Amino acid sequence: MKFFLDTANLEEIRQAAALGVLDGVTTNPTLAAKEGKPFRELILEICDVVKNGVVNAEVVSVDTQGMLREARELASWHPNIVVKVPMTRDGIRALNVLHGEGIHVNVTLVFSPSQALLAAKAGAYFVSPFLGRLDDISEDGLGLLREIVEIYRNYQFSTQVLAASLRHPLHVVAAAKIGAHIATMPFKVFEQLFKHPLTDRGLEAFLKDWEKAREVLGEIVEPARPELVERAEARPARGTGR
Ligand code: G3P
Repeated sequence: MKFFLDTANLEEIRQAAALGVLDGVTTNPTLAAKEGKPFRELILEICDVVKNGVVNAEVVSVDTQGMLREARELASWHPNIVVKVPMTRDGIRALNVLHGEGIHVNVTLVFSPSQALLAAKAGAYFVSPFLGRLDDISEDGLGLLREIVEIYRNYQFSTQVLAASLRHPLHVVAAAKIGAHIATMPFKVFEQLFKHPLTDRGLEAFLKDWEKAREVLGEIVEPARPELVERAEARPARGTGR
């Protein structure tokens, strides 16, 4: 399963990327608006941080021609950009054209299996069912995900299912069990994936026991000698001159 971060915040993306488990980023107009900088600059900075990962950037036009213009522009910014278009008639028309041009499209705001079926038929690269927003109105977000994965398997659609609008770690785990290709999550949910009180308690006990027996156990690695570190730092870095 691929992990995407659902944010346009560079600091959050940097932190997740540094852990080596980040496969991409999804943004939307709301998330981009929070960052207060020109969209192109923002998206290119995100591309730089996620390196080989994909970066999803959304169009804001609602008519097919406008979407096509924006999508072509967004796709020209960086090879790793996937263009998000909304699940509307105009969006599906635009998707057909963009698919023909080899531009990868993520169909967003998907809330039903029939919408997901249309998106796959039109050539979507990703389809984004919004689980949390369905749960918010007492509908079954995970049920929708299950139906989409089943339908895509039946017909071997190549469209990847991107579980979006995830609210908590159990959403991520359930999406993995169902077989979603990708989970996109807010940074807070990503952080929650790490947490277990028994890990913290266990580590604390291990370290306490080690400390008590340190004299007998010795060191695993000799501590760094400060005078050597100082001398190394005083030397000019390689390739920076004579
Ligand atoms: O970015 C799309 C989706 O994940 C938004 O989630 O939390 O606004 O429902 P949310």
